Amino acid sequence: MDIRFVAAGGGDVVAIMATEGGELLEAGKALDTATAGRIGRAMKAARFTGGAGQVADVLAPEGVDFARVLVIGVGKAEAADGMAVERWAGHAVKRTLTGGFEKLVLQPDALPGVSKSEAGAHAAMGARLAAYRFDSYRTKLKPEQKPTLKAVDVMMDGTAAAAARAEKDEAIVEGVFFARDLVSEPPNVLYPESFAERLRDLETLGVEVEILEPAQMERLGMGALLGVAQGSSRGGRLVTMRWNGSAQKKAKPIALVGKGVTFDTGGISIKPAGGMDEMKGDMGGAAAVAGAMKAVALRKAKANVVGVVALVENMPGANAQRPGDIVTTMSGQTIEVLNTDAEGRLILADAVWYAQDKFDPSAVIDLATLTGAVIVALGNEHAGLFSNDEDLANAITAAALAEGEPVWRLPLSAAYDKLIDTPNADMKNIAGKPVAGSIVGAQFVKRFVKDGTPWAHLDIAGTAWKSGPYDDPISPAWATGYGVRLLNRLIANRYED
Ligand code: BES
Ligand code: MN
Ligand code: ZN
Repeated sequence: MDIRFVAAGGGDVVAIMATEGGELLEAGKALDTATAGRIGRAMKAARFTGGAGQVADVLAPEGVDFARVLVIGVGKAEAADGMAVERWAGHAVKRTLTGGFEKLVLQPDALPGVSKSEAGAHAAMGARLAAYRFDSYRTKLKPEQKPTLKAVDVMMDGTAAAAARAEKDEAIVEGVFFARDLVSEPPNVLYPESFAERLRDLETLGVEVEILEPAQMERLGMGALLGVAQGSSRGGRLVTMRWNGSAQKKAKPIALVGKGVTFDTGGISIKPAGGMDEMKGDMGGAAAVAGAMKAVALRKAKANVVGVVALVENMPGANAQRPGDIVTTMSGQTIEVLNTDAEGRLILADAVWYAQDKFDPSAVIDLATLTGAVIVALGNEHAGLFSNDEDLANAITAAALAEGEPVWRLPLSAAYDKLIDTPNADMKNIAGKPVAGSIVGAQFVKRFVKDGTPWAHLDIAGTAWKSGPYDDPISPAWATGYGVRLLNRLIANRYED
């Protein structure tokens, strides 16, 4: 789908904004005048109040050339932010993508908290994100199920600034789509080796990619990662992606670490059958890291960033690890594996350690679909945030809010840490009782963070995908790509020259 910025022109469908109270803004008022008040009358007849996402669909009004005018609400004017504009544009695309139309015109307006050029850029972003599809395996789509929309024109005066920003934003969209595709791929197609090969493609963008195979991880002493991987006939991989964009080539990088369980059966502590297919998305953390690396490289960020993803398949089998096994991590610490389904923390133990040991980063952020408990606590709206550093936690929270990928901070403390002590090894991988599941997971990962390293852990089990309905217009499929925008914004705000 092509996006253009134009000062004037026509199309099949036009979308305009309205705020709560059913108020049209500048562009909408002009259109209403051109149609001799037909749009306003249609809004009244439809009891349209301008609530966010509400649509009044006006067909072929006399006075303009458009076949349809979509009046779409953005909610309260004062509360509407850039994300509200993205969703506004997303609704317009959602309504027209397969509708038989080829060209949509978006007419964004300035809002109290959003300048005209910001609104234009966000409109383009929302339109692109809303057009995402994962239908490469649908060979029998009916004509009416296929997208017809070919072009979106963002129509406004003073297009230059918005167009420049939208062009930069394309890198972010590419990163989000990369992550969504990876999460969506079926687990017979995307497994550790094939995942690693897809990351290899980032080399064309100037990212240095290094892939460690099982024998190399063995030499490094990654007993926890290999313990999870050993149940599968497909060997694990540890992939490092480096983007060295800072003018200071030697400056410490920020390290992003991702959980990449390409399928989580639970292992010998096997999961129930219902809904197990969703565990193909258990590599959402690794996908977010990969997507962020792609975005950062595409926009040539002036920052040193290293992404480390641990890729394994957690399977039961003759060689699978058993509850009771004790494994030795790269850090030297030992773990008693009491539940093979608490595997994410095991692979993170080695990946987080490796990232620090090899790259001496200025901070470490790990992302993982780690616990079902975070869904109980926060649902699908917020990711769980844990951190040992106030500034880092605040910076993540701000970036998350600005990008529509919200987080909610949860506590860490010595009392929770104690829950994973065991007489048999340095720690066990689950607590003795099923309490504070997400915090316990975070405390476990924290044991592999060196003293003095600012660290944050994002538990994205509730946000990497959603079970439907897919009613967020800018996230129209199962996989969300959660984390790419947050990480990219954090890097832009805090780690660039
Ligand atoms: N991948 C799961 C967590 C998960 C659950 C992600 C639901 C997305 C949706 C993780 O590996 C897991 O199985 N965690 C266990 C931990 C428990 C055994 C301590 C869980 O949450 O039940
Ligand atoms: Mn598991
Ligand atoms: Zn898992």
